[in-house]
Amino acid sequence: MRVAIIGTGYVGLTTGACLAFIGHTVSCLDTDEPKIRALKSGQIPIYEPDLEDLLEDARPNLTFTSSYAEAIPGAEVVFIAVGTPPTPSGAPNLEYLSQAARCIGQHINGDFTVVVNKSTVPIGSGNWVGSLLRESSEHRTDGVIPDFAVASNPEFLREGTALHDSLYPDRIVIGADEQRALEVLYSLYRPIVDQTFQAPTFLPRPESMFAVPLVSTDLASAELIKYAANAFLALKISFVNEIGHLAECVGANISEVARGIGLDSRIGPRFLNAGIGWGGSCFGKDTAALIATAGEYGLHMPIVEAAKIINSRQRDRVVEKLLRELKILKGRTIGLLGLAFKPNTDDLREAPAIEIAQKLIDRGVRVKAHDPIALERFESEHRSMGVHLCTSPLEVADGCDALVLVTEWNDYRDLDWDLVAKKMRNAFVLDGRHALDADKLSRAGIHYVTIS
Ligand code: UGA
Repeated sequence: MRVAIIGTGYVGLTTGACLAFIGHTVSCLDTDEPKIRALKSGQIPIYEPDLEDLLEDARPNLTFTSSYAEAIPGAEVVFIAVGTPPTPSGAPNLEYLSQAARCIGQHINGDFTVVVNKSTVPIGSGNWVGSLLRESSEHRTDGVIPDFAVASNPEFLREGTALHDSLYPDRIVIGADEQRALEVLYSLYRPIVDQTFQAPTFLPRPESMFAVPLVSTDLASAELIKYAANAFLALKISFVNEIGHLAECVGANISEVARGIGLDSRIGPRFLNAGIGWGGSCFGKDTAALIATAGEYGLHMPIVEAAKIINSRQRDRVVEKLLRELKILKGRTIGLLGLAFKPNTDDLREAPAIEIAQKLIDRGVRVKAHDPIALERFESEHRSMGVHLCTSPLEVADGCDALVLVTEWNDYRDLDWDLVAKKMRNAFVLDGRHALDADKLSRAGIHYVTIS
C-alpha cells in the first residue's frame, strides 16, 4: 500500500521504517528541511537501537520529503505523527496537528484516503481533524473532491525498544467511525497482525509471538485507550513508589514486595520498579492532558492526580536522602550517573536527572554528570544549567561526596566499584533505580542506599 507519514520524530520515523520494512511504499514528510536532507543522506536525528539497520533494509520502499504535493496525492493512508507538546495548562499544543491536517486537505486526491492520527491527541480530536480536512479541501481551486475518513491508531512503543514494540506489539488499536477505514488499516497491518513478515536478523521474532490482537473500535474509544494505558502504567509505578516509601519505614524490601505482588498474573511484574519515578515526554504530558480533559467535563481524576504527586515526591526524596547522609549540601560535589529519562535513549524530555540536578544546584551543590549517549544533547539543550559533564563514570566519581544512579544504563552495573570508591571523597552511592549489586558495593566499602 502507499503510505505517507507526516512528522519524522520518534513515532513517525519508527512507524515509517517499520511499514516500509514490511513491504509498504512509504513517504516520510517533515517540514524541517535540514532534517529531511540529513535523513536522505542516511543520518538519523535520534538515538534508537537498530533504527539505522532497519532504515537501511527498508530504504528501497522509503522516501523522505518536505513537500505535501509529493507525499500526499495517491497515498491510501496518511499518518499524522507530529508533536503535541504540553502547554502550561496541561492541554497539548495542537498547532502542528492543525497545520498538518490543513496541508493534507489541500493535497489528497479523489480516491479514498484514510487520515490517521498517530500523535497523542485529546479525545475528540479525530472529529476536529475531520472538520479541518473538510474545511481546507473546500478551499481548493483544482476541482478535486476528496474522499477520506479519519481514524485513530495510537502507538504504544517505548523509546529504546521502539522497533521491537512496533513489529511485535502486544496489540494494535484502530478506531474509526467508518467501517471502510477500519478495513484499510486492517490490510495495512495484516503482516504484523499475522506475523507473516520476515523478521530482521538483528530483531528476531520472540518465540512466544503469535498473531497480534487487533482492537477495532470507534474513534473516541481508540483515543481514550491511549491515555488510559499511559495513565495506568504511570500510576502502577507511582503505586509501587508509594508502597516503597512505607516499605522503607517498616524495614521491608520493596524489590521483594514488588516481586511478590507482580507474580499475581492479575497484577503482572512489569512497571513495578521502584525508584526516582517516571520521566519522559509521555507519562507527564498524557496524565496532565487526561486531567485537563476531565476538567472540561467537570470531572476530577484523583487517582491520576495522586500518581503525579507521588512521582514528584520521589525527586524530593533524593534530596532528602542526600541531606540526611551529608548533613550540609552547600559546597558539596555530587555526581549523577545517567541523564537520559531512561536507558537506551538520548531523550532528555522531563528527565528526572534535570529536575534533580536543578534542585541540587539551587542548594549550592556542584553537580557533575555522565551519560553514555545523551551528553551531547544535554550540552546543546541544557548547557546554561551549569552541570559539569564528564566523559566517564570514573571522572564523575572523582572528588564526589555522593553519587546518584539516575538512569540504569547497563554500563553502570559493571563499574569497577573499588576504583570508584577510591576516587570519591566520600564513598556514598544513592541508587535511584534499584539497579546495582548492593553486596558488591558494600564489599568495595561504599555506603549504599536505595530510594524506594
Ligand atoms: C511510554 C509507554 O510505556 C509506551 O507504551 C507509550 O507508547 C509511550 O510512553 C508514549 O506514549 O509514547 P516511554 O515513555 O518511551 O513509553 O518509556 P517507558 O519505558 O514507559 O518509561 C517511562 C518512565 O517510567 C521512564 O522514566 C522509566 O525509567 C520509568 N519507569 C518505568 C519506572 O520508574 N519504573 C518502571 O517500573 C518502569
